[in-house]
Amino acid sequence: MNKTLRKAIIAGNWKMNKTRPEAKALITDLIGLVKDADCGVVICVPYTNLETALELTAGTNIEVGAENCHWAKSGAFTGEISADMLAEMGVGYVVIGHSERRQYFGETDLTVNQRVRAALDAGLKVILCVGELEAQREFGITEEIVGMQTKVALQGVSEQELKRIIIAYEPVWAIGTGKTATSAQANEVNHYIRTVVAKLYNTAAADALTIQYGGSMNAGNADELLAQEDVDGGLIGGASLKAADFATIVKAASK
Ligand code: PGA
Repeated sequence: MNKTLRKAIIAGNWKMNKTRPEAKALITDLIGLVKDADCGVVICVPYTNLETALELTAGTNIEVGAENCHWAKSGAFTGEISADMLAEMGVGYVVIGHSERRQYFGETDLTVNQRVRAALDAGLKVILCVGELEAQREFGITEEIVGMQTKVALQGVSEQELKRIIIAYEPVWAIGTGKTATSAQANEVNHYIRTVVAKLYNTAAADALTIQYGGSMNAGNADELLAQEDVDGGLIGGASLKAADFATIVKAASK
């Protein structure tokens, strides 16, 4: 396994934060701060900020993502947004299977798989989130849970399509809690995910897969987490809402 085989990507997950003027201010600050990044930089923003983000980041090294998409191409799904709608706007990425979707909005491994399928069909890149609950870690079933989530989500995804997938390992107990996984814990599960992908596809495909860590990654702990062999970037919630903090994490990933 060789870290240099894959691209480090730092993605912000803004969640349900920032009005349009606030988004504009944050992105404007960010553009200058991350322009020399030696890693991928993505901001995943609320639907209402997509157009603003796309306009402001045009011609920069920042790519734009959405935080979810529906699995159907169109239809009677009030309140939902399709992958085609995102792709048509010029959105590059979409987060799928975030634990907050799983916890609060009835997302299951099967619907995650359907959404992944729809996103790939629309030409989007996917940030696929997996992660165990605290109780599951205590029961010693982290690998089973994360392995199952990964296998189900990747059903029907070809090796070629896998190149448009990033997996984000986000232990649920570490999200927004300030309780970061240790760098050893993050690396261990990321490595396990890579072995699952190697079994599903092959070693070369697994070695090329960007696997992020997410869960209270911040300007203070990013260096150590990102130095781990199997941690290829981060999915950043709270710290992505402050330009300076997010830029510090981008710098850590550029080393
Ligand atoms: P956090 O969120 O960085 O605020 O813990 C991470 C995420 O939910 O992607």
